[in-house]
Amino acid sequence: MHTAVISGTGLFTPSASISNEALVASFNEYVRRHNERHAAEIASGAMAALAESSVEFIEKASGIKQRFVLDRDGVLDPERMYPRLAPRDNEQLSVMAEMAVAAAKMALERSGRQPADIDGVICAASNMQRAYPAMAIEVQNALGIGGWAFDMNVACSSATFGIEQAANAVRSGSARAVLMVNPEICSAHLEWRDRDCHFIFGDVATAVVVERSDLAVSNHRFEVLGTRLATQFSNNIRNNAGFLNRCEDKWGDLRDKLFVQEGRKVFKEVCPMVAEHIAGHLAALELAPAGVKRFWLHQANLSMNQLIARRLLDRDPTPQEAPVILDQYANTSSAGSIIAFHLHADDLAAGDIGVISSFGAGYSVGSVVLRKL
Ligand code: COA
Repeated sequence: MHTAVISGTGLFTPSASISNEALVASFNEYVRRHNERHAAEIASGAMAALAESSVEFIEKASGIKQRFVLDRDGVLDPERMYPRLAPRDNEQLSVMAEMAVAAAKMALERSGRQPADIDGVICAASNMQRAYPAMAIEVQNALGIGGWAFDMNVACSSATFGIEQAANAVRSGSARAVLMVNPEICSAHLEWRDRDCHFIFGDVATAVVVERSDLAVSNHRFEVLGTRLATQFSNNIRNNAGFLNRCEDKWGDLRDKLFVQEGRKVFKEVCPMVAEHIAGHLAALELAPAGVKRFWLHQANLSMNQLIARRLLDRDPTPQEAPVILDQYANTSSAGSIIAFHLHADDLAAGDIGVISSFGAGYSVGSVVLRKL
């Protein structure tokens, strides 16, 4: 068995962003127009009036202040409220692959690797833009990487589940190095007209190079001390979009074909699950939470992360111990914990321990325990 290290990460951030103020202004304009159009039904009691959103609620409930998106105009147009992405023909690089390639190039550069050094590509994300060919194979082809490539989806936990697959391939010797990418176009599966969740998501792509320790050349290497994954079925985060949709002859309300959640239940059920998962994983490695320098947690909700860290440390975490990026990026699904790692790992000293943990739909939770080399 070989030792696996994370030797480089990459981040692609779209150039457009939406502040809470701009988001709420467009949402409230949509509400005003909707209620005006349906004034008669609302007056007769046949329809409930839509309620406005507020910046104060969003910041207090989530900690999110803005999000990056591929297309701002489509999302903010009160007559549309979803991104407008230009169709591409089959000869062009698809939009998800393009984001992944941008993040991957940065990860390859930071790890000091060339495409020829990589033996496998995993695209791990919450949504794939098509059924096949795999996004990962398109990324592999665009970068000129040999070996194999495949897609996998464990929703918000996809990155840690992907890192385990990459680390296993490296540990077993079946690959020298694996590139794992997380392109997330969350703006396309979000119902921007639903005030309960319209503020939640953003778009981004991350990439991670996992490789054999004895071959690694990067100065910023993290040894993978262990990976642990767990799942437990729940309907509280669900998206029913799929290839059988047209066969169901269901028209009208298609709300369930986008992201739907019972936010309160998720909060209550997932926090203890994640804290116990991380504590159990650390204990199995004979490590204590108090000895962990940094927790790079999934970025869905600020209070959720504070609660998880508090359960682990028996005190509030410092901003350094549990870095927050969701204020700027919102929930970017599988990419969130990797953005935190990418932006907040360079200052760690040799020997420092850190944990990447992602969690979400499934339910699913994954942890990757790392030691800075
Ligand atoms: N603006 C103003 N008020 C709003 C609002 C908005 N945009 N959205 C909801 N509200 C109202 C609700 O109608 C509710 O009013 P009521 O008490 O009169 O019924 C009140 O605010 C509280 O709503 P609730 O949905 O219970 O808020 P919350 O504190 O649970 O926060 C989430 C909502 C989604 C931010 C939070 O539950 C969460 O982040 N959960 C975890 C989500 C998660 O991690 N998901 C994983 C996805 S990968």
